Amino acid sequence: MPITILGIESSCDDTSAAILSDKTVLSNVTASQEVHQKYGGVVPELASRAHQSNIVPVVDRALKEADVEMKDLDAIAYTLGPGLVGSLMVGSSFAKGLSLSLNIPLLEVHHMKAHVMAHFIEEPETSNPELPFLCLTVSGGHTQLVIVHSHKHFEVIGETIDDAVGEAFDKSAKIIGLPYPGGPLIDQYAKLGDPESFTFAKPKVPDLQFSFSGFKTSVLYTVRDRVKENPNFLEQQRDNLCASIQRTLVEMLMEKVRLAQKQTGITRIALAGGVSANSELRTSVRKLQEEGCEVYIPKFEYCTDNAAMIAVQGYHQFQEKQWGSLSSAPSARLRIE
Ligand code: KG4
Ligand code: ZN
Repeated sequence: MPITILGIESSCDDTSAAILSDKTVLSNVTASQEVHQKYGGVVPELASRAHQSNIVPVVDRALKEADVEMKDLDAIAYTLGPGLVGSLMVGSSFAKGLSLSLNIPLLEVHHMKAHVMAHFIEEPETSNPELPFLCLTVSGGHTQLVIVHSHKHFEVIGETIDDAVGEAFDKSAKIIGLPYPGGPLIDQYAKLGDPESFTFAKPKVPDLQFSFSGFKTSVLYTVRDRVKENPNFLEQQRDNLCASIQRTLVEMLMEKVRLAQKQTGITRIALAGGVSANSELRTSVRKLQEEGCEVYIPKFEYCTDNAAMIAVQGYHQFQEKQWGSLSSAPSARLRIE
């Protein structure tokens, strides 16, 4: 008999619920929160309130779309961390209450592991990477290079010493006057611009570490100086700025991916996390195929925050009877290892 898992994700500003039958997605419903746009970033207090009003309708829709009733659920997987504590608490409290009332187990899932494990969602046209593989995990809160040995054993071999690359996208977007989240907009406008128009600083950090704060400052100073000379600079140069920002960030990521590939000798390369939706990053990683690598890129809907990835990681934990506890508290800074 296949097992039916309800996944719940509420770590940041997306409320998501999914129903999986083993590793096959029956439904994956996400409510995004537009309330943050005008503030230029996620406002934690507003995020938890929006989760509170979204969670019941989102779970209800996921059940209906999957044609599954509550009584058919075998377990509930939810995000324990990392993330915004107020946001995590909404998903966690909801999952605990439902598990108590249905008398089914809880599965506590690490958000970044789930991004990586999205590669194991069963889809007719995609293949799953063999273990071990090298994964570039890039989101609004993380930038890591991870060797995935198994669904429990993740070895972080490199990470950012300051901002995450998603933050670098979003903060640069804010500097050039784009609303939050700016990453997808930079991607969109970059297609219309010349990526060589502007040169921004690429901070030098050793080995497999990343750093993006110097880059962001460089974007800020360029914009400040050029707007002084020409008040219409941002309107006139929006597309060229986006193309140059995106080129520089993708180059910084790819330098480290190549280095990690050389150092580890692993030729299976995967992308995970919200920034893996970026079209230039996807194209650049795909090019590694010409150098003899196997490349794995998730479908768009499994790149940014979603509950299907939480449920698939939950499925692996279910197999090992790694049950959650009603007394576990969500954690803003849960380590992956
Ligand atoms: O994984 P995710 O949905 O949430 C976190 O766990 O942080 O990632 C969100 C991040 C945001 O910074 C957003 O701007 C970025 O992913 N993002 C993109 C694109 N789509 C989402 N960045 C660049 N290009 C995109 N197409
Ligand atoms: Zn995420």
